[in-house]
Amino acid sequence: MCGIVGYCGKRNASEIIYKGLKQLEYRGYDSAGIAVVSDGTVSAVKKQGRVANIEAEAKALRGNVGIGHTRWATHGKPSDENAHPHSSGKFTLVHNGIIENYDELKARYLCGEKFSSDTDSEVIVKLLDKFYNGDILATVKKVTDMLKGSYALVIICADFDWLVVTKRANPAIIGYGEDGNFAASDAPALAGYCKEITVLQDGDFALLTADGVSIFDCNLQGVIRERLINLAEPASLELGDCPYYMLKEIREVPASVERTYLAYVSVESRIKRILKDVKRVIVTGCGTAYNSGLIAKRYIECFASIPAEAEIAGEFRYKNPIITGDTIVIAVSQSGETADTVEAAKLARSMGGKVIAVTNAPYSELTRQADAVVPVEAGSEICVAATKSYTGQITALYLLANTIAGINSTEAVRRLSVMPELCNKMLECKGIDAIADMCARSSGVYFLGRDIDYAVALEGSLKLKEVSYVPSEGYPAGELKHGTLALMDIKAVAVVIITNEQLAGKSENAVEQVLSRRGKVAVISNVDGIEKRLQGRAEVIKIPECDKYLSPLLTAVAVQLLAYKTALLLERDPDKPRNLAKSVTVE
Ligand code: AGP
Repeated sequence: MCGIVGYCGKRNASEIIYKGLKQLEYRGYDSAGIAVVSDGTVSAVKKQGRVANIEAEAKALRGNVGIGHTRWATHGKPSDENAHPHSSGKFTLVHNGIIENYDELKARYLCGEKFSSDTDSEVIVKLLDKFYNGDILATVKKVTDMLKGSYALVIICADFDWLVVTKRANPAIIGYGEDGNFAASDAPALAGYCKEITVLQDGDFALLTADGVSIFDCNLQGVIRERLINLAEPASLELGDCPYYMLKEIREVPASVERTYLAYVSVESRIKRILKDVKRVIVTGCGTAYNSGLIAKRYIECFASIPAEAEIAGEFRYKNPIITGDTIVIAVSQSGETADTVEAAKLARSMGGKVIAVTNAPYSELTRQADAVVPVEAGSEICVAATKSYTGQITALYLLANTIAGINSTEAVRRLSVMPELCNKMLECKGIDAIADMCARSSGVYFLGRDIDYAVALEGSLKLKEVSYVPSEGYPAGELKHGTLALMDIKAVAVVIITNEQLAGKSENAVEQVLSRRGKVAVISNVDGIEKRLQGRAEVIKIPECDKYLSPLLTAVAVQLLAYKTALLLERDPDKPRNLAKSVTVE
């Protein structure tokens, strides 16, 4: 949430910052802005809406030092006034995060000040201006010490050719370019500019000039932080021949599955050591990551006969969880930044549990909080809706569950190795357009399934509502008759996932219940004879035969394509759904 970019170097800053903001737009798209310093003057442009709205004016800005921001609104509605950067006196800044005590600070130190926005962020820049004593780092430290909440800040001052960067509980990285130095929320902003980056730690301060970067710890003592390879490649951020990232990323599902199982061998022995004496497993995450956790719970209980729970990270933290030394908490997060998931991991460790992070972001905060990391090798995921990262998570969790069960990964990898090809077949599957048409015209779509299919039903529902705004629910097929059936009428659609041969008859009961209330039905299934039984009465997507535990990799592709196609029919932008941002770094 919120993307920030800073540049200090020999080139024109606004052009570089604009490109960086475009790459970070998945973090928020309520407003955008850029400010540059030149000859002691700060010039800025900021506007409500997408980054493209500032393109023309940004081109006219001249200066070698600058900052930019793309916003996901928290305090203060999306508007030109609330867009960042915010300025006061000589200072201008961009902020990602939430300042919880901004009202208190306003009342205490800024009485009588005129504010031009409703944001918490403007309070910070006013405080910098008020307390500036000629020593910039000391001033920034004094002000940030007053703040409660989370922040990543990039600050410029009209008098100097530098940037100051600092952070707490929100991500900030420094990038080392050939003709300048950079700051950003995330590596894609620096793809093509910086081969190396440094991930700042909470409380760090970085001073960037065109020629160098100095980093100081929370006591303003100089520190050396590791330089890491920037894994974000410009090519991976290109749309290619796809109109949207969502489609591009669904098409990358097979590669995500393959790369993830190939990477597992490098972490397997460490995972085995961490798992010694494990008696109980809790899988936690938010949204899609939680949905993949539900599948992991089934894997762990089936393969290892160890009690496993799946918990929504934001709930887990506040329910007094029982964690002992033999509890393993598996924290699942595409971004590795989600505040609820990171805090859940911290809590689990503080209570003596061991944490395994399953993430697509190797340098993220979550990896720093974990005892071990299982990589999801999905590559950069730009669309706000998670697609290839979900199937990557399922792959990683399948391998992890096998390790928990004491099964060597060679066998699990062998079973997985046929899946990329089968996922490719799913990408070609016919019949999704007709179901998307049904969904786009419906009053509501109900995704139903039993057991592992129910977990995918929840994900199908999340995906559809997220990108198409069609009301949707995921429900256990057997629960339909206990209440939800009341919603079935001629305008309702049920998408029923049936991959378990033993439970197929019971799930088909749900199909009949919907049909008899005149609802429309689509079935995603690999069960023999189902097409014949439902001929002329329901749309059927046949998925290829596969290992029964791995069917979510195929049904996921079907529900992702369905969500994408429904969004297009309703003329939604599937990459940037309204009100959302990809990484939710506040609680
Ligand atoms: C998925 O389509 C969503 N955008 C959302 O539910 C997401 O999965 C959730 O916010 C968790 O993000 P994370 O995996 O980066 O932690």
